[in-house]
Amino acid sequence: MSINILGIESSCDDTSASVLSDGVILSNIIANQSVHIKYGGVVPELASRAHQQNIIPVVDAAIKEAGLTNEDITAVAFTRGPGLLGSLLVGTSFAKGFSLAQGIPMVEVNHLHGHVLAHFVKESPDDDNQPKFPFLCLLVSGGHSQIIVVKSHLEMEVIGNTIDDAAGEAFDKCAKVMDLPYPGGPVVDKLAKEGNPDAIKFNKPRIDGYDFSFSGLKTSFLYHLRDKLKTDPDYISKNKEDLCASLQKTIIDILMDKLHKASVDLGIKEIAVAGGVSANSGLRNALIEYGEKHNVKMHIPKFAYTTDNAAMIAITGHYKYLKGEFASQDCTPLARFGV
Ligand code: KG4
Ligand code: ZN
Repeated sequence: MSINILGIESSCDDTSASVLSDGVILSNIIANQSVHIKYGGVVPELASRAHQQNIIPVVDAAIKEAGLTNEDITAVAFTRGPGLLGSLLVGTSFAKGFSLAQGIPMVEVNHLHGHVLAHFVKESPDDDNQPKFPFLCLLVSGGHSQIIVVKSHLEMEVIGNTIDDAAGEAFDKCAKVMDLPYPGGPVVDKLAKEGNPDAIKFNKPRIDGYDFSFSGLKTSFLYHLRDKLKTDPDYISKNKEDLCASLQKTIIDILMDKLHKASVDLGIKEIAVAGGVSANSGLRNALIEYGEKHNVKMHIPKFAYTTDNAAMIAITGHYKYLKGEFASQDCTPLARFGV
């Protein structure tokens, strides 16, 4: 009998449901919430209301697209945290109801663990392009920047973390200062393609070990604009491509420096990247180049698995299901939840 896992993701502003059969993807439906755009960031209360509206149609669509019925689902996996409490509550409550109604187990998943295991979602039964253990995972999203040693599907150790802002936050906050739409990361990525990455030098942090810091870069970016705007009020609009390219290059350099250090120190020649910022074209190119130069096997996720999605929750649920790690009905969401 196949193991059919329904995954539910609702930690921030995307409502997503996915069905995997023995780890092979059958569907991955994502409903984005456009309601936040005009506020320049996610409004938690609006996010949870939108999740409530989306969750049933999204799950329904995922099960139908998989060609299955509710009765075919073996277990339901849901994001328990970290994330926005009201948003997490919608997915958690839905999973509890679905588990009770169908008489099937439920599995709680850490969202960050999900980002890492996105690399194990199979496109077909003979897809064997998954990373080999142990590997390093650079997890870069709107809320996290981490270097993780992944020892097995369920065993990982965070060796580096951001001490202030996350990489995605650095993209988003600097984009906001330039009056670019939210989320800024993809917009900066697009504009950077037309700019000169060496046009402007921004400060890079000096931090020991594998930790990151991005708040100094944000300040350096802000001061640069403040000084230039004094003499030219149109400085941003005239130079936004160079600003984006230089900002992006600095963020990538900060990430690559620490990743290189970890790979050399630990002697690990297999690296994966995960999280929303792994959609960044500059970072993807830098990783590919690095892999070729240093003989490191690089795993770059498909775009669909970079930002928040339920396939990554379902695959993590799959491995936890195999170990019999089930959640109980009194499980509550956690806004903060380490890997
Ligand atoms: O993983 P994710 O979807 O949600 C969190 O768990 O945070 O990541 C969202 C982050 C945002 O900060 C967004 O600006 C960033 O990923 N992002 C990008 C790109 N696409 C998304 N950053 C840079 N370049 C991109 N192409
Ligand atoms: Zn995420």
